[in-house]
Amino acid sequence: MPDERTLSPATIAVTAGRPAGPGQPLNQPIVLASNFRDGGEYTRTHGTDTWAALEAAVGALEGGRALAFASGMAAASAIVYALAPKVVVVPTASYLGVRSLLSEYASQGIVELRAVDITDTAEVAAQAIGADVVWVETPTNPTLDIADLPAISAASRAAGARMVVDSTFATPLLQRPLEHGAAIVLHSGTKFIGGHSDLLLGLCVTADDAVYDRLVQARTFQGATPGALEAFLALRGLRTLAVRLAVMERNAAVLVQRLRQHPGVAEVRYPGQGAMVSFIVRGGAAPADALCAGVQLLVPATSLGGVETTIERRQKYAGDAHVAPGLLRMSVGIEDVDDIWADLAANLPPA
Ligand SMILES: Cc1ncc(COP(=O)(O)O)c(C=O)c1O
Repeated sequence: MPDERTLSPATIAVTAGRPAGPGQPLNQPIVLASNFRDGGEYTRTHGTDTWAALEAAVGALEGGRALAFASGMAAASAIVYALAPKVVVVPTASYLGVRSLLSEYASQGIVELRAVDITDTAEVAAQAIGADVVWVETPTNPTLDIADLPAISAASRAAGARMVVDSTFATPLLQRPLEHGAAIVLHSGTKFIGGHSDLLLGLCVTADDAVYDRLVQARTFQGATPGALEAFLALRGLRTLAVRLAVMERNAAVLVQRLRQHPGVAEVRYPGQGAMVSFIVRGGAAPADALCAGVQLLVPATSLGGVETTIERRQKYAGDAHVAPGLLRMSVGIEDVDDIWADLAANLPPA
């Protein structure tokens, strides 16, 4: 096996985390055990080889040590536990679940939040002074804004704050936040890593051993452990991430171009890579809801990152009230792009 550091991410996604040695199975089997004979310990505290295989693969891709959790939210909760911040800089527009979690801690007086526009680097840098954690999500859910990771990292470091990066939308193939100085990278493995809308799983990755130990403690104390089948399926999903993403990005590029030319579309938001496309239809909420109700191939659904194209109007959630009423967030799948477009075009408002 060549030195992993010389391999490209698409190759590492296929090769990392496999049992080594003659006679070993190619894939780490699903270990269904909570208890082990003396010397093997207990699953919640020590994990299993099934988790370890997934963690080795994601760690190799991100350039750190990974830990798997029951869900992306479990991983986010573990980060708050592990870093125990008093002051957190948080994006105003980012994934609703994480913002709600942090707001709940704030309402209990556990943390103080400083809300920022994550694209306004000067503002983020100013708010980082006196903060313990700068929580970044990039691209953001659902507006697909991009944060300047190197600049925010430098400002956070100068201020003595740790940068946490939710990299769910970028996947481990499009962005490596540890290289930019992130203390922890967060993934909802439920999305692109799993890739088939059939599991819940989260991941944290860090290159800091002390932070790693705190995350292990968080998982152990909070008991937010991944299921054995979920860990197996997430690694199986990771094996094909590069090919799924390639098709999704090819489809996204075509759809973005056609949406931009459509008179019923006021704005298209696409960061230039990845499978997430958000667009604002003319006329607000009503035509956007009509589109979601009318599509036959696209799946109106809240989650994303699967092989199927899903679509949702986000402003219907109270926590996403700041989003344009007609904004539709689309997770582009691997179907034939002309089929996706035909369904969209048949349901877009005329102008
Ligand atoms: C950017 C982002 N982070 C974290 C999460 C939470 O992940 P999970 O649903 O696996 O708990 C989500 C879920 O939608 C998300 O979109």
